[in-house]
Amino acid sequence: LPAASVHLNDPSLFEFAFVPRAHSSHKGSFGDVAVVGGAHGMSGAPILAARAALYSGAGRVFVAAIDQGPAYDPVQPELMFRDAASLGTAGTTIVAGPGMGDSANAIRILAKALDGEEPLVLDADALNLVAASPDLQVRLAARSGIALLTPHPLEAARLLGVTAAVVQGDRLAAAREIAARYDAYVILKGSGTIIAMPDGEAAINPTGNPGLASAGTGDVLAGLCGSLLAQGWPGRDAALAAVWMHGEAADRLVAQGAGPIGLTAGELPAAIRSVLNRM
Ligand code: APR
Ligand code: MG
Repeated sequence: LPAASVHLNDPSLFEFAFVPRAHSSHKGSFGDVAVVGGAHGMSGAPILAARAALYSGAGRVFVAAIDQGPAYDPVQPELMFRDAASLGTAGTTIVAGPGMGDSANAIRILAKALDGEEPLVLDADALNLVAASPDLQVRLAARSGIALLTPHPLEAARLLGVTAAVVQGDRLAAAREIAARYDAYVILKGSGTIIAMPDGEAAINPTGNPGLASAGTGDVLAGLCGSLLAQGWPGRDAALAAVWMHGEAADRLVAQGAGPIGLTAGELPAAIRSVLNRM
């Protein structure tokens, strides 16, 4: 494929990345994900991302809270809760941002995550913190590991120093600009999500529906991205597959009558699991 071409996102672009699980596999084969977020009063966002990581096949999933939050999730006791300040980054794919807030603690922990070499997904407040800090921008641009950024239009606008209207006026250009600036995989969310690669390749996504316009669905996408990266997927394929499957899961829920009105983010992880297992 020519590097600078634009595709319609479709499983034919990424389905070779699905590898059947070996009979001899164990949880260590499928990676560790830590979701860093959950400042005071925002514990739900990292839990949604963590559930998405679990339901999409990550081996072990941690919620690394910025502030003291719940000790466990009674609905999802498989999740392990840790203090983000004591999180080691070696061997762990990090999803930073859901409900992270903008405290000094959050900035310190984000800087540490940026300096690590494992795959890193940046969403929500992590993107806002980068947009506001030249120091974090330098760390992001300089990091060697995979970086996958999942801005919605306002978060993209903050990263670029423009208004959301400018981003929406040329979504493809905005996504490509961020990808080039940070040598990152970029998912510019919203109807017609754009996936832009650091080499200029890009895709527009046809799946998904307005049922996704509800709180927390972006957190689920970030957790899904982290999960695929933790399982060894290349950044390009992880970004394309995550966006396609997230939208496809929402479309199936709508077909079953679970939306678009009243579709909740918490319903997505199980629907994503069934999309994934059928691929
Ligand atoms: N059609 C298709 N997909 C859509 C549509 C639509 N009409 N509307 C929304 N989506 C999808 C987006 O593409 C994205 O995957 O739903 C998801 C919404 O993600 P976010 O905008 O990040 O929303 P949310 O999860 O609620 O974010 C939670 O984090 O980013 C911050 O400011 C945000 O405080 C909020 C929090
Ligand atoms: Mg969001």
